[in-house]
Amino acid sequence: MNNKQVKQRFGIIGNSPQLNRAIDIALQVAPTDISVFVSGESGTGKENIPKIIHQNSSRKHNNYIAVNCGAIPEGTIDSELFGHEKGAFTGAHDSRKGYFEVADEGTIFLDEIAELPLSTQVRLLRVLESGEFMKVGSSKSIKINVRVIAATNVNLPKAISEGKFREDLYYRLNTISIFIPALRERKEDVSLLFRKFSSDFADKYNSPSIRLDEQAMDIITNYNWPGNIRQLKNFVAQLSVIETERDISAQTVLNSLPENRNKNNSPILFEDKNKAELSEREILYKVLFDMKRDLSELKKITFDLINNNNSGIKTDFFNETKQKDVPNISPVKEEIIIDVKATVSLAIQEKNLIKHSLEKHNGKRKLAAAELAISERTLYRKIKEFKL
Ligand SMILES: Nc1ncnc2c1ncn2[C@@H]1O[C@H](COP(=O)(O)OP(=O)(O)OP(=O)(O)O)[C@@H](O)[C@H]1O
Ligand SMILES: [Mg+2]
Repeated sequence: MNNKQVKQRFGIIGNSPQLNRAIDIALQVAPTDISVFVSGESGTGKENIPKIIHQNSSRKHNNYIAVNCGAIPEGTIDSELFGHEKGAFTGAHDSRKGYFEVADEGTIFLDEIAELPLSTQVRLLRVLESGEFMKVGSSKSIKINVRVIAATNVNLPKAISEGKFREDLYYRLNTISIFIPALRERKEDVSLLFRKFSSDFADKYNSPSIRLDEQAMDIITNYNWPGNIRQLKNFVAQLSVIETERDISAQTVLNSLPENRNKNNSPILFEDKNKAELSEREILYKVLFDMKRDLSELKKITFDLINNNNSGIKTDFFNETKQKDVPNISPVKEEIIIDVKATVSLAIQEKNLIKHSLEKHNGKRKLAAAELAISERTLYRKIKEFKL
């Protein structure tokens, strides 16, 4: 594959020299067995790199295993990665293969590598140096042939100085390093990404794509994008759902962007918070989309019913359905959806959604949280925030 084919195959948008360079390095190192370390801020697209490398290596017909080290509890991570023998610990009823063994002859992608506990870092270093490891509870070493690619958005030299990451492991992983630049460093990609995301959303939800005038495009091009491409994608989703107009003005863009953060601030400080906020928003957009769709269907059914019953029962129909037949579809709920207009901010909609969900479930947070697909803790925080 060449650079262009890689972009097509993996849906990578952008043509900045920095992005092209990252892809070219990935292609160059792909045929070797060298470990690769991918760094860059949150949301820059690091997860594409190991896939490019694997697919362009001789290992491509063998397993590609992606492990999010941050998602595995500290107590089980060794057994997940390296496997365990029967009886190695309480509950180990059978012996089990770890990801490294499953990835033999293939590639393992260790994402969020900075989250590995120090003891696991020692085991990993041993595998990298000797290609051998022992299952938890075993004294027999297993030899494997695995290509390792690691990624993190954490500043590892800083983590090393704080004693959270082993320096020897860092150097061992870092033989080849691929840095994915922040979106603010490749401004020329912003408009391309915007167009791609708006047309993707339009296709997905069967509506025309949103467009920006020159001034509005200028604003997003020069915005700081602390959450990088992930944030831009969510921003396009937000505008696509909330705005009734398809031509988006500069003012609307300004109102929709979170306050422009100081460019000198280390993005690392914001990463986790951003990520949490964004995924929470994603969920809310989804709820909004679903509700919008439900309303359209409901409208259609209502129209059909009215048209099929042209006998003066229209008003009764509405009164009755409101009271008995479809208790969930109260006029209040319709109002939330109709409120999805340019003038209403996301926060208000969020507040309305939460309020109505709580009312619907008689204040039972657990049920409301489940309906909104957010955690109870998040719901609790929102209730406080919105003073509900
Ligand atoms: N060049 C690109 N073109 C299109 N979409 C992209 C591009 N780069 C990233 N994305 C999209 O942006 C989102 C974030 O990318 P990704 O998950 O790879 O980020 P990351 O660097 O791993 O971030 P984190 O450190 O927070 O895990 C994904 O939805 C991904 O598909
Ligand atoms: Mg990632």
